[in-house]
Amino acid sequence: MKKIALITGANRGIGLEASRQLAQKGIKVIMASRNQNRGTQAYQQLLGEGLDVDLVKLDMNDPADFDKVYNHINENYGKLDILVNNAGIIHQEENFGENNADKISSTALKETFEVNFFSIINLTQKLLPLIKKSEQGRITNVSSILGSSTVHSDDTSGWYGVKPFAYNASKAALNSFTVHLAATLKDTNIKVNSAHPGWVKTDLGTDAAPMEVQQGAQTLVELSLDEATDFSGKFIHLGEEIPW
Ligand SMILES: NC(=O)c1ccc[n+]([C@@H]2O[C@H](COP(=O)([O-])OP(=O)(O)OC[C@H]3O[C@@H](n4cnc5c(N)ncnc54)[C@H](OP(=O)(O)O)[C@@H]3O)[C@@H](O)[C@H]2O)c1
Repeated sequence: MKKIALITGANRGIGLEASRQLAQKGIKVIMASRNQNRGTQAYQQLLGEGLDVDLVKLDMNDPADFDKVYNHINENYGKLDILVNNAGIIHQEENFGENNADKISSTALKETFEVNFFSIINLTQKLLPLIKKSEQGRITNVSSILGSSTVHSDDTSGWYGVKPFAYNASKAALNSFTVHLAATLKDTNIKVNSAHPGWVKTDLGTDAAPMEVQQGAQTLVELSLDEATDFSGKFIHLGEEIPW
């Protein structure tokens, strides 16, 4: 049976490209999309490229969708080999160049953490029984170098000035989930890692980003393939470990 992957936020940006690249490697990719129109468009685009993909509705803010996604995978495939927790936001209240730790609203903090942290934990916990049925489970949490506290406490780093607090803190918390879940699953065949895709041209990354989406998806894809990843609990960018 083919490997089965679920990618959240698969209708555009890095998630769409990672869906394409994993499907090109012979993996059946279930594209999870909140926005139904964009989801159907993206799904049909990959089908048109001859790729073996499936589509589910998944709003990370709607826990009822988690049950539906679990049931869909359980009934149709009976297991999940790869979970890519890719869906993420930067809140409209934030600006990448601004350090707003002194004034960010609790609403923005909560809304950011809901998508970038809490929902990922809930979805992963929900799907874990299906991932445990895989011979080589892979969980890839799409983080960011901006979640690195090492980088943010080093004023010589090029990223030092990029301090949207809610976004950065949510990715740091996600990294903590990676480390803790990897330790919990240490004696299983499931590897859990955080990916920094790079600064990538997408709606979130903007046109100012230097990296094209094809290369931006590369780290997620590599971390999701068992031949490329025999480690767990690491923070990786293009094959290199980066500091927490
Ligand atoms: N681009 C970069 O430079 C960069 C750098 C480091 C890390 N990252 C991370 O990479 C991941 C993908 O980012 P991207 O650049 O591809 O961003 P993007 O183009 O803005 O795409 C974000 C994706 O997340 C989905 N999403 C947002 N909120 C959601 C929700 N509540 N429920 C379900 N899906 C939701 C969006 O779906 P809708 O279409 O429905 O809104 C969309 O598919 C994010 O986790 C981001 O933090 C990106």
